Amino acid sequence: MNIRIATTQDQDDIRRLYFSAFTEEENEMVATLAVELLAENSALPILSLVAEMEDAVVGHVAFSRLKIENQANIQAYILAPLAVRPDCQQQRIGSALVEYGMQQLSALGVDLIFVYGAPEYYGRFGFSAETAQGYNAPYPLQYPFGWQAIAIREGVIENGPHATQCVQALCKPLLW
Ligand SMILES: CC(C)(COP(=O)(O)OP(=O)(O)OC[C@H]1O[C@@H](n2cnc3c(N)ncnc32)[C@H](O)[C@@H]1OP(=O)(O)O)[C@@H](O)C(=O)NCCC(=O)NCCS
Repeated sequence: MNIRIATTQDQDDIRRLYFSAFTEEENEMVATLAVELLAENSALPILSLVAEMEDAVVGHVAFSRLKIENQANIQAYILAPLAVRPDCQQQRIGSALVEYGMQQLSALGVDLIFVYGAPEYYGRFGFSAETAQGYNAPYPLQYPFGWQAIAIREGVIENGPHATQCVQALCKPLLW
């Protein structure tokens, strides 16, 4: 399995991947998010990664900037979306994508990474609701317990509440 930066040339493969991994209710919206992030230019850089096996795209993850109000010195990102092709799940591909992305962001000097997803999954990488507590998600959350963060740099967490602002592709209330 190989992980590399995704490009706009991967958009059809990425779209197919999200259609296979998510339910019918969500797949169109999440696939659109993944593809829009490939072309997003409201706040660069976006980190979009694909996992490949035998030249086929079997996984994808994107990380985009999350602005924190009144904390211009804190560099924060949000992990969204993430998917692994159903027939390739349970082989640590999702974990490899998350861990590789976190390493890349850490090397870029990113302080905090947020995610909105299953705590049972993201907890294993160190994300926690406690770390995200002082930061309001950009939109009202359908599942508030899914709002989590991890501090890459120590001492960056401040008491809130702090408002946050996401990139354009994530500015859709239904995603939250
Ligand atoms: C979530 C997902 C990306 C994980 O990819 P993966 O490559 O199978 O993950 P890994 O192999 O690294 O990890 C597998 C572990 O995650 C667990 N896991 C997978 N999805 C989970 C979920 N939604 N909630 C909790 N745990 C989950 C598995 O049970 C497994 O646990 P184990 O290690 O105790 O056996 C993949 O299942 C997927 O694409 N799901 C559909 C899309 C989705 O829900 N994306 C958002 C995630 S919140």
